[in-house]
Amino acid sequence: MKLSMPISQTLSGRLIRWLASLSLFVLGCLCFGVFFLIKANLEAQQNLRFEKLTTAILHLFEETPGHLQVGALEHDLEDLLKVNRDIHLRLLDENGEVRFSSQPGVSPARARSYSFALPAEAQKTSHAIAELTLDTGPDKVILDRLAAILWGAALIGSAAITLGGYLIVYFGLAPIRRLAEQTHNLAILSLDKRLATEGIPAELQVLVDQFNDLLNRLEKAYQQLEAFNADVAHELRTPLANIIANSELALRSKNNDEGLRDCIASNLEEMQRLSGIVNDMLFLSQVDRGAKARRMPLQSLAKLCAEVADYYEAVLIDSSLQCLIEGDASGQFDAALLRRALSNLLNNAARHADCGSAIVIRIKPEATGQLGLSVINRGEPIPSATLPHIFDRFFRADISRPHGHQNHGLGLAIVSAIARMHDGGAFARSAHGETEIGIRLSR
Ligand SMILES: Nc1ncnc2c1ncn2[C@@H]1O[C@H](COP(=O)(O)OP(=O)(O)O)[C@@H](O)[C@H]1O
Ligand SMILES: [Mg+2]
Repeated sequence: MKLSMPISQTLSGRLIRWLASLSLFVLGCLCFGVFFLIKANLEAQQNLRFEKLTTAILHLFEETPGHLQVGALEHDLEDLLKVNRDIHLRLLDENGEVRFSSQPGVSPARARSYSFALPAEAQKTSHAIAELTLDTGPDKVILDRLAAILWGAALIGSAAITLGGYLIVYFGLAPIRRLAEQTHNLAILSLDKRLATEGIPAELQVLVDQFNDLLNRLEKAYQQLEAFNADVAHELRTPLANIIANSELALRSKNNDEGLRDCIASNLEEMQRLSGIVNDMLFLSQVDRGAKARRMPLQSLAKLCAEVADYYEAVLIDSSLQCLIEGDASGQFDAALLRRALSNLLNNAARHADCGSAIVIRIKPEATGQLGLSVINRGEPIPSATLPHIFDRFFRADISRPHGHQNHGLGLAIVSAIARMHDGGAFARSAHGETEIGIRLSR
């Protein structure tokens, strides 16, 4: 699979589109601004010229009495307009009749007009209104050219910004491309590879770290799964081999009924062991899938512990062990599950306790609000390197001990699962000849 796709769907494509639109918008606004500023400026200049000419014309009428002579006024006005060739002047009488029109007489195609009333002095010569017409053609040409230039500048400018932006985005996003390439390669390589963290921008560092962390957990889970499969196969192999060997022997021998009965009894024992392992594994897989404890009100946890301890009485007496219960509590618990957990813990404690010592079942509220339920025994401590693994499935530190083959190492994994079903967890301490293993339960 190649890491290529239509530019419209890429991050760079989106950034470039936004940049192009933004630059066109900003430059367009700027050019509009410049255009209207210059247009307003030109209009202000035109107004100024109208103003100046108006003042001059009014001055002419007010200050010069000689205008009563024929032709004098026209002469003065033409003189005044000599320097304003693009302005045309008309003087109208009260009835709107044109009494004077400056040279050249034709009105321009594009024009702006301005009229004002003449002073009383002028009324004597029957001139009432003056009308100024400015030829705005040249200004219009300038504005048209300016508009074309500004449009061009906006288009070329935004094209240049877009091109520059594309290059920046292309090189700026290079680390993301490299990362995508690496991730793609990882998928087809093995789980032990990680994303390189050197040269990665800080923004992507968190992502890369999280991804690598995820891979770590995935690899660990995968290794555990592999080990679990191997353990399961190993655990099932021995009883199955025994059943097969027993059956073959029974078939070959010409033994009587008694021999066959022995074979069936031995096979039954192995099959019970197999059934135990399978049931334990099924229970653990249900917990993995989120099964929860069915909580019911329990008045006295100590009473439940005493019942389980009674069940182990014979084993305890055999090893001259004493069992004490410390503390009590009530709450909402799954009594059957707690019996199972406690039974596993007591079984282990009885196996590992020093002969003649006392086993203590402790019920103690924790500072976190949870309830601690643990079993303490005196005996050989668990090495600190082993301690974190005792809740692992199929873990047995003492496989060489007598009855090692009867204990398949799922006891504490089930204890820990029961704690999780009660929204708690398992814990273990072992030091100075004393081992405490237990669970914390939410009430
Ligand atoms: N009270 C204890 N003292 C010392 N070691 C213990 C104790 N309880 C458990 N362990 C260790 O933890 C391992 C796992 O226990 P468990 O899961 O119950 O498996 P199993 O009892 O089948 O061996 C045991 O094999 C043993 O080595
Ligand atoms: Mg056990």
